[in-house]
Amino acid sequence: MSDPRIAIIEKRFQKVRRVIAVSSGKGGVGKSMIATALALSLKDRGHSVGLLDLDFTSPATHVILGVEGLYPEEEYGIVPPMAHGLRYMSITHYSVDEPTPLRGEDVSNAIIELLAITRWGELDCLVVDMPPGIGDATLDTIRLIPSIEFIVATTPSRVAFQSVRRLLVLLKDLRVPIIGVCENMVMNPGGYVREEVERLGLEYLASVAYDEEVEEALGDPEALRKTRFYKELDEVSRRL
Ligand SMILES: Nc1ncnc2c1ncn2[C@@H]1O[C@H](COP(=O)(O)OP(=O)(O)OP(=O)(O)O)[C@@H](O)[C@H]1O
Ligand SMILES: [Mg+2]
Repeated sequence: MSDPRIAIIEKRFQKVRRVIAVSSGKGGVGKSMIATALALSLKDRGHSVGLLDLDFTSPATHVILGVEGLYPEEEYGIVPPMAHGLRYMSITHYSVDEPTPLRGEDVSNAIIELLAITRWGELDCLVVDMPPGIGDATLDTIRLIPSIEFIVATTPSRVAFQSVRRLLVLLKDLRVPIIGVCENMVMNPGGYVREEVERLGLEYLASVAYDEEVEEALGDPEALRKTRFYKELDEVSRRL
């Protein structure tokens, strides 16, 4: 029998104009920072924006936004609370700082549940912070949110780009729209990532510098907005 929640998910996304996943084949490349900065910057441009943290193992956007003690409202589903002007959904609304270890099948189940219960309402854009890699979460998200588009993050390291290339090839094979690749924590601009991205026929969105002020700005979106990092992401959001 098919899962009745799947049909509900479609309804939940009916009034969400764009869904943009920030993903990477590799961990620690700045997905959560990029997703949060993009969401804030799109909101600052006057769009209605949601942010969904789909990393159940290492949720991070709540630390970047500096929010805790948020409780979603229950009303024929769950209405995500507002955080700094964003409709914000994260597993941390429920787990706080407790670990949420999940096996593959349970990850799928938790994603289906979260997507089925969350009432986003009308949004111009929902930004999704993805867990690293090409695991169940990535495959399920593609399967469950048909209109999803991807921004893929990498660092200049060849080690990172090796994994990122696999994700890019997978997305291309699955015919999932790729907005482009964001190179992050760049110290010496002009590396090989741009060439490789263009060779794959994809757009190289930005070379985002390594910025020491980012760490200081964690938990404080106002401080984050003043960083070079944010300004570079703001330039990306302007072109979305
Ligand atoms: N451009 C940058 N300059 C300096 N520090 C950065 C930059 N981008 C991200 N960071 C820092 O790098 C670390 C990893 O960033 P982040 O958590 O966003 O990565 P991630 O890809 O989401 O990691 P994970 O795979 O665990 O989800 C954080 O401490 C973040 O503050
Ligand atoms: Mg992350």
